[in-house]
Amino acid sequence: MSTTTASTAPFPKNFVWGVATAAYQIEGAWDADGKGPSIWDDFCRVPGHIADGTDGTVVCDHYHRWESDLDLIQSLGVGAYRFSISWPRVQPLGSGAFNEKGFEFYEKLVDGMLARGLKPYLTLNHWDLPSALQANGGWENRDTVHHFVNYAREVARRLGDRVASICTHNEPWVVAVLGHEQGIFAPGIKSRAVMLQVAHHLLLSHGMALTALREQGCKAELGIVLNMSHTQPATDSEADRAQAWLDDGKGLRWYMDPLLKGEYPADVLAYFGADAPKVFPGDMGKIAVPLDFLGINYYFRCMASAGEPWDVKASGHVITDMGWEVYPPGLTALLVRLHRDYTLPPIYITENGAAFKDEVVDGRVHDVQRQTYIATHIAALGDAMAQGVRVHGYFVWSLLDNFEWASGCSKRFGIVRVDYDTHERTLKDSALWYRGFLAAQKNIAGV
Ligand code: FCB
Repeated sequence: MSTTTASTAPFPKNFVWGVATAAYQIEGAWDADGKGPSIWDDFCRVPGHIADGTDGTVVCDHYHRWESDLDLIQSLGVGAYRFSISWPRVQPLGSGAFNEKGFEFYEKLVDGMLARGLKPYLTLNHWDLPSALQANGGWENRDTVHHFVNYAREVARRLGDRVASICTHNEPWVVAVLGHEQGIFAPGIKSRAVMLQVAHHLLLSHGMALTALREQGCKAELGIVLNMSHTQPATDSEADRAQAWLDDGKGLRWYMDPLLKGEYPADVLAYFGADAPKVFPGDMGKIAVPLDFLGINYYFRCMASAGEPWDVKASGHVITDMGWEVYPPGLTALLVRLHRDYTLPPIYITENGAAFKDEVVDGRVHDVQRQTYIATHIAALGDAMAQGVRVHGYFVWSLLDNFEWASGCSKRFGIVRVDYDTHERTLKDSALWYRGFLAAQKNIAGV
């Protein structure tokens, strides 16, 4: 399977191949050099919030090991590294003074990437909001929109000439729904109305930040990253089909329509009723500014059922350690459908990967399931591109085993294993496969 993928995939010569991480999940150094606390620092302290009781205070210790980690990335033969800035590291209170030491870290990191021939793909918000802003209502408060735009301006002023790409938000759906409706992610709020106001402010701050950065002359590609699934009805019944359209509306169209069409989907707006967000005149136009790229994080498909919830185990497909069904054709179907329904900017698959339990045997990690997951999804991506979808790059989630949010360190997504006691890194077979695949791609492209 893997060799076939490597030799037949139709990827263009300038296709961007990368690996991805996020600040809170790998950096540690939670209060080093003037960093302020984030909502994830606070959330992890509450017993019961994190399945295995771990947190991001040290985790991979990337803050102190960034140079060898960049060497590791370079050794894979990828061309790009997607990382995120911890907002409270560079602006401890989320407003007011910036922290020079914090910026020094990211300037060294970005220069280190450039020195190793890696294109920096920067994310401004991968969920670690400064706690001080949460004390004033966080993303529910419209003031946070303005604070975010100021933060974005400062990051772009310092790094905008050196990074290839700036993404405003990673997965606004997760921040809104898991953080503010289900309450299983920071800041742990449970209210549909708050969730919808938060989602609106995330979208608004995205659009306003893009406008501000363009006015500032920022040359990096500017965009946003959404998590998306391909939602199918569990059966062909009318009720299941209606459920699938509603689920798609809440998860995908609620974000895609404002960004690309300047409006919330009318059917979902009607469904949300009195919980709908407060939208000021002009907001929708501010959200729908042109995107240089759209990032998509794809992990699994969704099956919609109006009755009993669909049992993923009944699918007969491999299930990951997260309980997610492995279904590569869902990626092809998702991309082809988006291409049909929207006028898309260039797409990047900004995250794709899988958690499986693995072990070190004689210094090797034979993670064949993760390797197969990545290989089959790259092939599925190739299928979508062959059908005309414009995709510019693909990033594996994740470079390292890391802190997987509410699941803690027990779920391993890395293609590189991290020993959390010694911090030793070991390339898993999936990493070796990815390296071989990329080398083969270079040969095919005749470079
Ligand atoms: C995504 C997140 C990323 C990681 C993967 C598994 O939702 O963006 O940080 O946790 O899931």
